Amino acid sequence: MKDQPLSPQPRDIDGNPVTPGLPMAMLAEITHRCPLACPYCSNPIELTRAQGEMPAEDWARVFREAADLGVLQVHISGGEPGVRRDLAEIVASARDAGLYVNLITSGIGITRDRLEELDRAGVDHVQLSLQGIRPDMADRISGHPGSWDKKMGFAAWVTEIGFPLTINAVVHRQNLERLPDMIELAETLGARRIEVATVQFHGWADLNRKALMPTREQAVFARQIVNESRIRLRGRMVIDYVPADHHAIYPKACMGGWGSTGLNVSPDGTVLPCHAAPSIKWMKFENVRERSLSDIWHLSDAFNAFRGTEWMPEPCHSCERKTVDFGGCRCQAMAIAGDARATDPVCSKSPLHAGLVEQADADATGDVAEFIYRRLKK
Ligand code: SF4
Ligand code: FES
Repeated sequence: MKDQPLSPQPRDIDGNPVTPGLPMAMLAEITHRCPLACPYCSNPIELTRAQGEMPAEDWARVFREAADLGVLQVHISGGEPGVRRDLAEIVASARDAGLYVNLITSGIGITRDRLEELDRAGVDHVQLSLQGIRPDMADRISGHPGSWDKKMGFAAWVTEIGFPLTINAVVHRQNLERLPDMIELAETLGARRIEVATVQFHGWADLNRKALMPTREQAVFARQIVNESRIRLRGRMVIDYVPADHHAIYPKACMGGWGSTGLNVSPDGTVLPCHAAPSIKWMKFENVRERSLSDIWHLSDAFNAFRGTEWMPEPCHSCERKTVDFGGCRCQAMAIAGDARATDPVCSKSPLHAGLVEQADADATGDVAEFIYRRLKK
């Protein structure tokens, strides 16, 4: 391990030291390769190529270190994790480490035999992405002809084999009017949970703002449908909801607070406090091939940067919500204010809020732009 100096101790606004909590969940992005090309992909613009991916034995060590650190569940994701031929080996090592294994997949490229193999290897739960409600819509948004049919076949295998299923429906300007149908489809597929996640405008999605930004009316509609459906489906299917925060008064507590409950490990072993963190260019991220996960979590500059409340500027510094939303999303502050330390401009107390709302309304009501699909640069 590299010999690293200790980071400055995070502090609260009274100057008292803050001891970081322990992470409960880890996102393991084992690859950025993917047959789909969704224009809102949460992977970075600079995608890692196959040659840069950590081998299965490194992932096995990372899972053991994660379990020792306190992580209870791992979300094995990508890209599409199914493109890794050693996926079953990776899953088995996560299970051997004692972690609850959630497989996050597009469902494309995993055969029924392979899904049974993953069952034996230790997948506990499957989360399947849903881009739209009809073949033409789903295939266009995912940039993959035939994706709908493959997905529906995969969903049937998931429930036949007996995995608990979550449907992950990313919603935006071009599919939000079909939200009721998405919820109904999830029910029909036997899902126990649907995550209705409004696009978050980082990375690829930010490039596609004029294609994806929901209107104010759509945001209101989504909330209403989610509220009504939660009542109707109580006891049968859970609905998680990530609202369109550009139309909110206060920001969300992104990641439940920076460096507080979760961490992401990139295909090459870089450890991130959140998936969009590389957009903060001055921040240095450490690699689990060079330093232990525990040291990175407890001691690295990146993870300590926004812990506690001492770092907060006004208006957050003296705001009663500072331990509720932690000043919002650091990556959104970076993208809009040009300063990761700034108050998230989604907050109505931010001096940039009015401009953000104006821009969001303009993006949502102007001509619908063509998608810029997520692709590996040649
Ligand atoms: Fe949250 Fe800061 Fe806005 Fe207060 S001022 S609500 S802490 S973002
Ligand atoms: Fe990075 Fe919100 S996405 S802190």
